[in-house]
Amino acid sequence: MSLLDRDRLHLWHPYTQMKTASPPLPIVSASGVYLHTEDGRRILDGISSWWVNIHGHSHAALNAALAAQAARLEHVMFAGCTHPPAVDLADKLISLLPSGITRVFYSDNGSTAVEVAVKLAVQYWTNRAEPQRRTIVALHHAYHGDTVGAMSVSEDSIFTRAFTPLLFQVERAHAPYCYRCPLGLERRSCRIDCLSDLEQTLLLLGDSAAAVIVEPMLQGAGGMIVWPPEFLAGIRRLCDRFGVLLIADEVLTGFGRTGRMFACEHAEITPDIICLSKALTAGYLPLGATCTTEAVYDAFLSDDRSRTFFHGHSFTANPLACAVALASLDLFEQDDTLARVRRLEAQLRAGLEPLRGLPLVGDVRVIGGVGAIELGDAASDKSGTRGGYLDEIGPRLATAFLDRGLLLRPLGNVLYFMPPYVITEEETGWAIEQINEVLQGIIHDHPITRGANP
Ligand SMILES: Cc1ncc(COP(=O)(O)O)c(C=O)c1O
Repeated sequence: MSLLDRDRLHLWHPYTQMKTASPPLPIVSASGVYLHTEDGRRILDGISSWWVNIHGHSHAALNAALAAQAARLEHVMFAGCTHPPAVDLADKLISLLPSGITRVFYSDNGSTAVEVAVKLAVQYWTNRAEPQRRTIVALHHAYHGDTVGAMSVSEDSIFTRAFTPLLFQVERAHAPYCYRCPLGLERRSCRIDCLSDLEQTLLLLGDSAAAVIVEPMLQGAGGMIVWPPEFLAGIRRLCDRFGVLLIADEVLTGFGRTGRMFACEHAEITPDIICLSKALTAGYLPLGATCTTEAVYDAFLSDDRSRTFFHGHSFTANPLACAVALASLDLFEQDDTLARVRRLEAQLRAGLEPLRGLPLVGDVRVIGGVGAIELGDAASDKSGTRGGYLDEIGPRLATAFLDRGLLLRPLGNVLYFMPPYVITEEETGWAIEQINEVLQGIIHDHPITRGANP
């Protein structure tokens, strides 16, 4: 039996309608930016394997760090025990994170990093004798993960609707989605007026607000929405004014994805709590980290044991994951990785901006190593009633790109390219060419021809 036949027998894939989906790609190996299939195809990983990979697949230095750690200590529980990779990684993260972040709480993935942040925020206020502060404010178009708490603070959407009865109530405020401005304004002339919605929300909530949670600078799964940095700076000001905690979910944006090590740097702010995962381990192993200021940490110190943060996972601070994360951060220094991302950003801007002229293209957004193209409804209907995750153009585009050896996974009508940072100029140029040709093909209704990746 082939791998696909065996897969079909027992497996159930994420975000996949198993009745109608095309068979999965049978990947048997990967190196650099390429995935290799069982039937001999080489496919460029244009979405960094769900946004996690940064230095390329099967990287020699990361492989070596993993093997060396496995030979020493594969895992030990983290309640009552500690180990060098966890301590070294915490030291390193604190040296890189916005100043004022001093504590690291490990978990397993992006969703758990968010769950920890939300639970910390709520218990912080209880421990400080303000238990009425328990409302979380989130933004429209937010995506923070798939566990119940993370879904609660995400936008009410096709992803969450089946679970509505389980979700806790949050307040939602406008995001600065400039292409479909919630106030109908233009970025050129607006004064970040959309921020006043958050201000009003916090005013109304008064002393019942616990925290504001945001994906700083780039809202990912909600449609690759790139923010003006002034909006992020404004959120920090509002949180300070209303005495509310700010949670920055940098699960996607952390580790260079937006061109800075952390997206909060674009507005030179320090959140009270910051969530990390995905590229933390360069895409090797699941690991989450929720990092806080000393003020947040202090609220949990007490002789009263009920003030303890009662949260933990079997694989908290897994030494293998921590060791790879450390090796990945070394690579940032050795390879000047952030300079690479800046070069990638310049190339994406130069290559994708001209596509704005195509009749099908509504908006082009580039930040760091992410280039997104939002397809308008033939560039005429900005009502937002069409499009969205279920827009049928998404799978059609994905198939066309796969046929050309490029793995992309559009979010409905939002096509994006987010490769590992090690991609070469030639490979990026090739991918941009494929995007251009496929979009042209759709406009002119050409059959989409096969090409080979470089
Ligand atoms: C901003 C953000 N937060 C949280 C998550 C959830 O991470 P995970 O899939 O590791 O649970 C994601 C995943 O895409 C994300 O983009």
